[in-house]
Amino acid sequence: MSSLVEQSKKLAAYQAVDENLKDSHSVVGVGSGSTVVYVAERLGQLKNKSSFVCIPTGFQSKELILSNGLRLGSVEEYSSIDIAFDGADEIDSQLNLIKGGGACLMQEKLVASCSKQLFIVADYRKRSPEKLGHAWRQGVPIEVVPAAYNKVLNDLKNLEGYKSAKVRYGGTFKAGPVVTDNSMFIIDADFGEIPVEKVSTLHSQIKSLVGVLETGLFANMTTAAYIGNEDGSVATLT
Ligand code: A5P
Repeated sequence: MSSLVEQSKKLAAYQAVDENLKDSHSVVGVGSGSTVVYVAERLGQLKNKSSFVCIPTGFQSKELILSNGLRLGSVEEYSSIDIAFDGADEIDSQLNLIKGGGACLMQEKLVASCSKQLFIVADYRKRSPEKLGHAWRQGVPIEVVPAAYNKVLNDLKNLEGYKSAKVRYGGTFKAGPVVTDNSMFIIDADFGEIPVEKVSTLHSQIKSLVGVLETGLFANMTTAAYIGNEDGSVATLT
């Protein structure tokens, strides 16, 4: 990873925390991925870090909370979260998101939906000029019950915009499919470019398929996105 990309992630994450975390916030959601590493780092530097409890979105997130000396809670204990910070794979002009590149989309959506405010932190490569699905990434991640993967792969073919879909494999260190923190599989489905006004509909259509636990389409959930630019500036999108 180039140092420019890492620097932009860090600047975005630090600024998002510094501008939005308030003394009154006692429950803080911490997302997953490589950009949120810097969110946890910044939270861990705060003098008042014992005054809030952090709610993780998965195993990696839990480790980040603990390794930065933060108080660990759970979404089972706190279903009302004051503020959450998370990364994204893509962000469109209306702040709709594709998430799930790290296979944590179910818990991420759970924490986001319990949060009064969701701030997204990302580097400049994540910004889709207009529509989702534009990018260099994997399409729409979909978390599915293992026994249903073949059925869901077939059902997806009937949806408007469908191009292709495949079960995500683990790569070098895992023979076979990626297994999520919920013991599910991930299907990555390519729907090409997704118009802003169709994000919610596509999410609902996929979610209604038997065997689907959750989709990585996050519509109308984002309060603001902090994007680290190549020139060292940070853009705030609202
Ligand atoms: C995890 O499942 C994802 O939703 C991540 O939040 C997303 O992939 C962003 O990750 P990076 O910050 O590593 O790009």
